[in-house]
Amino acid sequence: MKTSVFAFLLLFVSACDKKPETTGPSADKGKQVYFASCIACHSADPTKDGTVGPAIKGSSKALIEARVLKAEYPPGYKPKRDTKLMVALPQLAASIDDLALFLQ
Ligand code: HEC
Repeated sequence: MKTSVFAFLLLFVSACDKKPETTGPSADKGKQVYFASCIACHSADPTKDGTVGPAIKGSSKALIEARVLKAEYPPGYKPKRDTKLMVALPQLAASIDDLALFLQ
């Protein structure tokens, strides 16, 4: 299982290398970031629950930003889980728009 996921990732990354670089936010770039940084916990299919994290398809940009940059929630948001397992990934600040497009 682990090996096939890894093989899939490699395939995915090399397939994406051949695409022309797009400027500006894009769902494609968001998908790359998602597969590189999120699927350790969330499902490769964001409409489904992952090994650790919940389904996150349809998350707003405000929610993604708060979670990914600070491991927080936007004011008034009711989290899907009460746990605090997710780590902040502030190095992804430049990819929030891409992630939001991919997950919308
Ligand atoms: C270490 C595992 C882990 C990683 C890596 C991770 N998450 Fe999470 N995520 C979780 C868990 C677990 C939750 C549920 C709340 C908690 O326990 O922190 C969560 C919750 C969320 C939520 C809120 C869901 C809701 O509506 O309540 C969003 C949005 C989210 N993650 C997005 C992301 C994105 C985007 C990435 C990649 C940039 C990512 N996560 C990477 C584990 C992870």
